[in-house]
Amino acid sequence: MNLSLTEAAFQRCISRRCGATFAVDEVLTACPKCGHLLDVAYDWDRLPPPKSLAEFEALWADRANPLSFSGVWRFRRLLPFAPPELCVTIGEGQTLLHRADAVARYVGVQPDRLYLQYEGMNPSGSFKDNGMSAAFSHARMVGATTAACASTGNTSASLAIYCAVTRLMRAVIFVGSGKIAYGKLSQALDYGALTLQIAGDFDDAMARVQQVAKQLGIYLVNSVNPFRLEGQKTIMYRVLEALRWEPPDWIVVPGGNLGNSSAFGKAFMELLELGLIRRAPRLAVINAAGANTLYQLYEQQSLRWNRGEPNMTAADRFFGQMDAEGRRASTIASAIEINRPVNLTKCLRALEVCSGVVREVTDQDILDAKAQVGAGGLGCEPASAASVAGAKKLRAEGVIGPNERVVCVLTGHQLKDPNATVAYHTAERTQCEKVLAPYGVTQAPFANRPVAVANDLDEIVRQIQAHSH
Ligand code: F0G
Repeated sequence: MNLSLTEAAFQRCISRRCGATFAVDEVLTACPKCGHLLDVAYDWDRLPPPKSLAEFEALWADRANPLSFSGVWRFRRLLPFAPPELCVTIGEGQTLLHRADAVARYVGVQPDRLYLQYEGMNPSGSFKDNGMSAAFSHARMVGATTAACASTGNTSASLAIYCAVTRLMRAVIFVGSGKIAYGKLSQALDYGALTLQIAGDFDDAMARVQQVAKQLGIYLVNSVNPFRLEGQKTIMYRVLEALRWEPPDWIVVPGGNLGNSSAFGKAFMELLELGLIRRAPRLAVINAAGANTLYQLYEQQSLRWNRGEPNMTAADRFFGQMDAEGRRASTIASAIEINRPVNLTKCLRALEVCSGVVREVTDQDILDAKAQVGAGGLGCEPASAASVAGAKKLRAEGVIGPNERVVCVLTGHQLKDPNATVAYHTAERTQCEKVLAPYGVTQAPFANRPVAVANDLDEIVRQIQAHSH
């Protein structure tokens, strides 16, 4: 291994009081001294960072090199923990920032002010591949042969595809039984992952996978793994690149386990430190109302990063009460059906760096926003549309101004969860009310209903004419 590199990159406890450091080739998911989360940190003096962000554009000319083609490793000078020969890529991060005028109208901002960062274009169809390429590279650095995760479906699809394509490791995935959308389950099965359906939900699966990883010495790729988040920083680099390195006013992202929001905050924190940007965008993290731990703690109870000393007693009290009342997460946006976000403290830091806000949106808001995104031609899964629903809410409150430039992150592809989409569009006609009603979704104002028609030429023509205005 390249020694100067492994010395200049290290792991560091995020707690200001502790701040313990560990070598980059140790396998850790929490600080062994105090239990807080870890960051990957860099001694930038020994790893000269780029002088300007425009340097990355030069790498577009070198696309025959798989690491320059990768939308993650193209930025490797900003996540320099792995020697290039060990970096794993399957072509992740070829994602685009789309101007979306129809969605802008829906949200209530000026037509050229709203952009969608479409992470559904990744090889496994979600943003997770950004982080998986980084975690997988670290797993390879430390010689892991089996990798595991708990998942609401996308992390597991991502781990499974990296294992299947590279053949470097075996995948063991934990999912809550009945808690994963079919598109995602089908990916894990097709890619050959050992798939354990736990009788419980994501929060149960997450607790179990950590125990099992420890007991069996399996490499854990959930976002408690600090290397995962290094890869997810690059989503923001690509947003900046698409905007000619001018930060937008807002980044709006769904919040589940809070890995993405944490990674975005770290990306901006480092770019500010390095003098590569002069201001960070504001960050809006959007919870589903049925899985709203962050909203409760941040907006209702004013839990703050507090210069690295968040009041964890308040958080512990919140979780204690949640357990005492037997409250479980419940939302049709199954990707973010999470009540115990493992990256809570890192997300608080991100909210501080980016003057953040947190909002909750209902499943009705989510599915309506999703239909608007789909009508605009990109399509996303329900959790992703929380970002658009959240932007609309913040605009209605006047927190987002009509002329502010807003980037909503679409985290997962439309085909991940066809059941939710079909249920919305067919709500009145079929038994699909059964899918929506338990989540409080009672209307489908933007439904594009299928037209039932007899197998008869005249009747078919009549229906087409009746629907062609
Ligand atoms: N959107 C989608 C499509 C997701 O799959 C997830 C998380 C999120 C948003 C939330 O992101 O956890 O970084 O706050 N999915 C995880 C999984 C939990 O297992 O696939 P986060």
